[in-house]
Amino acid sequence: MDSYVRIFDTTLRDGEQMPGVNLNTEEKVQIARQLDKLGVDVIEAGFPIASQGDFEAVCAVSRSVERAGVCALARMTQKDIDRAWEAIRHARKPRLHVLGAASDLHLTYKLHITREQALEMTQKWVAYAASLCPDVEFSPEDATRSDREYLLRVFNTAIDAGATTINIPDTVGYTAPSEFESLVRYIAQNIHNREKVTISVHCHDDLGLAVANSLSGVMGGARQVECTVNGFGERTGNAALEEIVMAVKMRGECFGGVRTGIDTTAIARASALTAQLCGVKLQPNKAIVGENAFRHQSGIHQHAMLQNPLTYQILRPEDVGFRESALVLGKLSGKHAFAERLRELGYIVSEEKLAEYFTQFKALADKKKEVTDSDLEAIVRQKSTMPEVFELEYFHVISGNTLLSTATVRLRRDDQVLEEAACGDGPVAATFLAIERATGMALKLRRYSIHALTGGEDSLGEAVVRMEGARGLVMGSGVSTDVVEASARAYLSAINRYLYTFAQEDQA
Ligand code: KIV
Ligand code: ZN
Repeated sequence: MDSYVRIFDTTLRDGEQMPGVNLNTEEKVQIARQLDKLGVDVIEAGFPIASQGDFEAVCAVSRSVERAGVCALARMTQKDIDRAWEAIRHARKPRLHVLGAASDLHLTYKLHITREQALEMTQKWVAYAASLCPDVEFSPEDATRSDREYLLRVFNTAIDAGATTINIPDTVGYTAPSEFESLVRYIAQNIHNREKVTISVHCHDDLGLAVANSLSGVMGGARQVECTVNGFGERTGNAALEEIVMAVKMRGECFGGVRTGIDTTAIARASALTAQLCGVKLQPNKAIVGENAFRHQSGIHQHAMLQNPLTYQILRPEDVGFRESALVLGKLSGKHAFAERLRELGYIVSEEKLAEYFTQFKALADKKKEVTDSDLEAIVRQKSTMPEVFELEYFHVISGNTLLSTATVRLRRDDQVLEEAACGDGPVAATFLAIERATGMALKLRRYSIHALTGGEDSLGEAVVRMEGARGLVMGSGVSTDVVEASARAYLSAINRYLYTFAQEDQA
C-alpha cells in the first residue's frame, strides 16, 4: 500500500464550528494561504449553503489557493450540492464532500429515514455530485456507532455511484484506537474498487483520543487524515493537524512506515495565525505548539540539556518553525525594507495596505526600542479585516487607585460622530461602558483576556474579548502598546463582527 498519507485540513469548516469563532472571508483566505504553504493536500473551505458569507469565503479560497485541493461540504440535496459546486468549481483541484449518515440513531432521530432510504439517497446524490466534479468524497456521519455490515453497504453504494474518497467519521469522539483500527481494516478489506478509492478518517476529541484514533485508522489502511490546526473544532475539537503530522514524522515506523507532504517548519506560523484570527489562546502545555512545548523548568533537566539536548527533548523548536524573534527593522528603516520583510514573513499585501501598515510600523518604532518579526505580524493582524461599522477616533481615560475611573470615547459611524462618557471600576470597565453607550449595542462580555505579544516592557499587548448577544457569540481582538486602547479596539471589533456576521446570515 502507498505510504503517503494525505492531510485534509478542515479548520475552515469543522474548526470554525467552535463556539464564538466566526471568520470572515479575508481571514479564511489568510489561513488558507498559510495551509497551502504548509503543504496540506486538501483544504475544506466551508459549507456554502450555510450562509452567503460562507459561500463567498469558499469562492475566495478557491481562487486564492495555488497548490492544495479545495473542498466544500454539502448535504444530500440538490440545493446543497449545486451551491457547493458553484463555490469551488474554479478551484485548481475542486472536491465535493457529500454528507450522509449510517447510524440508526442519526437515521431515525435526525434524518427520519430508513436504512433503505438512506442507501437510495446515497446512490442518487453521490452520482449527482460525481456528474459535476471528478473528485467526490462521501462521509456517513456517526460511522463509528453504526452497524458494520450496513456501514459497508453504504460505502459500497457511494463507491459504485462515483465516490473517490470514503471517509469514516467518529462524529462524537466515541471510538477507541483498537476498535477503530479494526473498523477501518474491515472497510478497507471489503469495499469495492479498493485500489482506486482512498479511505479517510475524521476523529473528534470527546474522549481525548482523536489523534490516537486517527493514527490507528492509518494502521488499519486509511490514507487520508482529516484534522484541524490546533485541534480547533466543535465541543472538544478535532484531531490536531500538528500532532498527527509530527507523530508521523518522528515515529512513522510505528504507523506502518507512512509519511505526509507537510513542511513542518511552517507549523508554528499556521498555528499562531489560526489562534490569533479565531481569538483563542492555546493552553501552554499544548503538544507541539504550546508555549511550554520547548521549555524546561527543572534544574536537573536543564543541566542534562546543556550536556546533550536529546536527553529531554525529542524535537527542536526549529523543526516546527519556532525561531528567535530577530531584530529586523528600526525607525530609520525604509518602506522597501519593510515590504521585503513582510514578504519574507509570508504576507503579500496591496500597496494601499502596505502604506497603512508602514505608518503603523513607524509609530511603533517611535515607541519601541526594538521592532521584531512578532511586532510586524501583530501590525498586520491587528488591522481588523471586518468591515468597520464603528471606528474608534479617540478615547481618554482618567484613572487611579483613589478615584473612580472615567472614560470618554469618540466613535465614527459613516458621517456620524458618536461621543459618550462613563464611569467604571477601572479604566477598561469605564471604556467598555462608554463604547456600549456610544454604539447602543449591549452585548454581554463573556470573557476578557490580555497578554503580551512580544517580550520586554514596551511589548505590544493583545486584548481578546468574547461577547454574546441575542443572535450568538462573537470574539474580537485588539493590539496596542497601551492596554486600554487594545481593550477598546477588541471590544469594538467584537461589535463590528457581530453586526457583520449576523447581517450575512440574514442575507442567506
Ligand atoms: O464530524 C463529522 O461527522 C463531520 C462530517 C462532516 C465528516 O464533520
Ligand atoms: Zn467533524
